Formats: sequence, structure tokens, C-alpha cells
Amino acid sequence: MNKTKTICFTNNKGGSGKSTTCSNIGAAMARAGKKVLMIDGDMQLNLSLAFFSEDWVLEQAAGDKNLYHAIREQKDLADYIVHTDYENLDLIPSSTLMSSIEYELFTKWQREFILKKCIQNIKDSGVYDYILIDAPPTLGGWVMNILCASDQVVVPVEASPWGMFGLANMFDFLNEVKQIAPELKVAGIAVTKVDTRKNYFKQTMETLHELEEIYVFDSFIRVDSSVEWAQDNSAPVVEYKKSSRSAKEYTALAEEVMRRVSR
Ligand SMILES: Nc1ncnc2c1ncn2[C@@H]1O[C@H](COP(=O)(O)OP(=O)(O)O)[C@@H](O)[C@H]1O
Ligand SMILES: [Mg+2]
Repeated sequence: MNKTKTICFTNNKGGSGKSTTCSNIGAAMARAGKKVLMIDGDMQLNLSLAFFSEDWVLEQAAGDKNLYHAIREQKDLADYIVHTDYENLDLIPSSTLMSSIEYELFTKWQREFILKKCIQNIKDSGVYDYILIDAPPTLGGWVMNILCASDQVVVPVEASPWGMFGLANMFDFLNEVKQIAPELKVAGIAVTKVDTRKNYFKQTMETLHELEEIYVFDSFIRVDSSVEWAQDNSAPVVEYKKSSRSAKEYTALAEEVMRRVSR
């Protein structure tokens, strides 16, 4: 039986493409026949909105079958899984109450490892090939939980000057987390929202390639309005417009991520 790999998408910078990358890599892996569970770890509910209508997402967020309640009560996350419209692709929805999850974690025993414990049964069952976790744009106790529950991290970085700013903080934080989660690996940086007409893109790539010991994925994602049309229709672009450039780019990136994490 194949071992389930858990991959999280983190960057403390908002708008770097975490949720878009997570949703499309998940959908592309599922299209490739892999069984995938996605966990929406952000109070902004973007990963859930990538697959479900706003009404459904808000209803789910207001109820008690979401990540917030599961973590607060330290429940087995297997009971919180919903199926998406796509074969092999499941989701655990989030809640706006995730804004107070740090407070909830504060008094708990081994508080960095709550999420890890809550997904242990799912991992042990071997049902999924991949668990993908979408992180919020912060670096605190909850993101630490996400990292401690993960085998690998993908860091989406927007190809812009401000996209690069603060990246050093992110890697310092990752090194701190490795002290309590020594098995955690950085799969690499995924460059997103690229405008190849701009010279700045070249500079971004050069700067990133100078980072020692950090892999930069060969497949990068260009700016494409199909991504936004897909999101407006509660669908990942790899399903919504299969012929689009971004669908092909996300599919290539998903293949590269799968190759890289299985080494
Ligand atoms: N390849 C792309 N082309 C066009 N717009 C994109 C692309 N990737 C992301 N976006 C847009 O950029 C914004 C931020 O992306 P998102 O995935 O939500 O980032 P994060 O989760 O890191 O905050 C969203 O409005 C999204 O629609
Ligand atoms: Mg997001």
C-alpha cells in the first residue's frame, strides 16, 4: 500500500497563490487518478470556495461539521470529509471561526501537534495518496500545526517585488518548526502569477535560484484570466477550462510536485 503524503501550501504573504495552487494541484492530481483529500485551513474559506457555492460554504462554516470544531474538540477528521463534484477529490471545509483557533490551541497539551493527531487515522487508513493543506497567510501556532502535520511544504511565491519581500522570515520560521518536526521537507518554491512580458520575472527567477538548498519548481504559473473565471464558477481551472494555458501549467506543476515528494 502506498503511503499517504501530506503536503501543505504556506507563505505568510497573502495573495501569493496558495489557495489557487492548492485547489488546482489537488484537482490535477485527482485527474491523474490519485485519491486526494484537501483541508481548508484558512478562515477566508478560499479553498472551499474553489469547489462549492458561496451559500454552501457559508452554511458549512456556520455549522459544526468544519475544521474549527474538529480541531477545538480534537476529533478524528475522517468524520468531517465531504466529496467534491470530482472523482477522487474530497475536502474538509473551514470556518470563519478559524480566526480564533490560536486562542483555542493555547491551553492544549502538545498544542503544535493537534492537527497531526486529528489526521492520523486518515493517514493510517491509506485511503488517500495525498492530503493537501491550504494555510492562512500567517506564521503562528496554527500554521505550526499545519507544518507539523505535513511531510512536505510547497511555498507559492508571486513573481513581484513584494512577493519576494519577507520570504526570509518564512524560511526562518520553517527552520524553527523543523526543530520540533525534523522530518518536514521543503518540496520547493512554486512561482505564481507570472507576467512573462515583464523583465521583473527574470530577476525573480534569478533571485530565487540563488537561494541555497531551496528547489524552485521548473513549472511556473502565468497570470491567466481563466483562473478567475473558474473561481467565479466555483471550479478549479484544470476542470473548468481544460484547454487553458493555466490548466496545462497547473497539471505540469502537479506532476512535478508528485515526482518531487515521492523521492
Ligand atoms: N495564475 C493566476 N492568474 C490570475 N489570477 C490569479 C492566479 N493565481 C491566483 N490568482 C488570483 O490572485 C489572488 C490571490 O490568489 P490566492 O490563491 O487566493 O492567494 P493566497 O491563498 O496566497 O492568498 C486571487 O484573487 C486569485 O484569483
Ligand atoms: Mg488563500
